[in-house]
Amino acid sequence: MYWMIKAGIQNSVALLPGPISHRVYYAIQRRFGGLRSIQVEDKLRQGVEVAGHAARNGLEVAGARVLEVGTGRRLNLPLSLWLQGAREITTVDLHTYLRPELVQEDLRQIRDQRGRVEALFGPRLDRARLRKLLVLADNFNLDRLLDVCSIRYLSPADAANLALADGAIDLHVSYEVFEHIPGATLEAILREGARVLSAQGLLVHYIDFSDHFSHSDPAIGPINFLQYGDRAFGLLAGNRYMYMNRLRLDDFRGLYARAGQRVLEQVAAPDSETAGRLAQGQLKLAPAFAAKSHDVLATLNAWLVSRPEATPA
Ligand SMILES: C[S@@+](CC[C@H](N)C(=O)[O-])C[C@H]1O[C@@H](n2cnc3c(N)ncnc32)[C@H](O)[C@@H]1O
Repeated sequence: MYWMIKAGIQNSVALLPGPISHRVYYAIQRRFGGLRSIQVEDKLRQGVEVAGHAARNGLEVAGARVLEVGTGRRLNLPLSLWLQGAREITTVDLHTYLRPELVQEDLRQIRDQRGRVEALFGPRLDRARLRKLLVLADNFNLDRLLDVCSIRYLSPADAANLALADGAIDLHVSYEVFEHIPGATLEAILREGARVLSAQGLLVHYIDFSDHFSHSDPAIGPINFLQYGDRAFGLLAGNRYMYMNRLRLDDFRGLYARAGQRVLEQVAAPDSETAGRLAQGQLKLAPAFAAKSHDVLATLNAWLVSRPEATPA
C-alpha cells in the first residue's frame, strides 16, 4: 500500500540526525510531495476564513495582535491577516521549518495573481499594504518582509510556554496544526493561550481530523487510520513528520473544557460518505474508536472558536 511506503520513508528520514533529517525531508517534499507545486491562494484563504470566524464572534482582525501556533514552512496565514489589517503577528514554531524560497515564491504568486488575490480578500483587503508587499516580491529579503509586515517569527518556540506578557494578544490561531500535537501539550497550549490573551480576545482554530495519508493515497479512505490501536499506528507512522494524534471532535471538546475554554462557535459536520460506510459496517475500527458515535467518527474537520471561561464576554 502506497501510504505504508510513504510512512516507512518518513520513519527512516526521521531517524537521521536533526538538521540532516530536516534537509532530506524537505528535499523529498519538494521533489515528490506536497511542496512540488504550491498555491498561494489556498493558504491566503485560510486567513480570510479565520477573519470571518473572528468577526462573527465579535473580533475584527483589523487592528488585532495575533499569535499563530505552528508556522510551518511558509508565512501565508500571517501575511493574509496582515493584508486584512492585523496590527502585528507573532508566529511560533517548535521547529525552524520556515523556507525563505517558498515565501518568495508565494509573493511572486501574489504579484502574478493580483486580481484573484484582491477578489479573495474583497473589502477586507488593505490595498496600501498589498502594494508594499508587492515591492518585496521583486526585491525579496525575509528579514525585511518580517519587518514591513510586522511579523515576528519565533523558532524554536513552544506555544505552551511563550515569551509573551499576559494579555499581549487578541487572536490565537492555527490552521491544520492541532491534529499534529499530543493532547496533553494541546491542553498546555490552550492554557498558555488564555494567559497571553487580552480580555476580549478569541481563539480560532481549524482542525483536520482526517487521516492525512488519505490526502495522497486514493486507495484509502479518510478514517483509514482508525482501524489501528495506538501501538500499531505508532509503529507504522509515529514519526515526527507525520505525527497525528487521531483525537476526534468529542476528544477535542473534552480537552477544551479541561483547559477552561468555552466554545462559542463550532463548525463541523459528518461526512456523508464516511457516515454511510460506517452505517453499513464497511469500516474496521480499533476498540477505542468503535465505542464512538458514527457522527463523531465521520466528522473530518472542525472550526472551534473559543474564549477562556473566566474572561467576561
Ligand atoms: C502541519 S505543520 C502546519 C504548518 C502550517 N500551519 C501550514 O498550514 O502549513 C504543524 C506545525 O506545528 C508545529 N508545532 C508542533 N508543536 C508545536 C508547539 N508546541 N509549539 C509551536 N509549534 C508547534 C510543528 O513544528 C509544525 O511546523
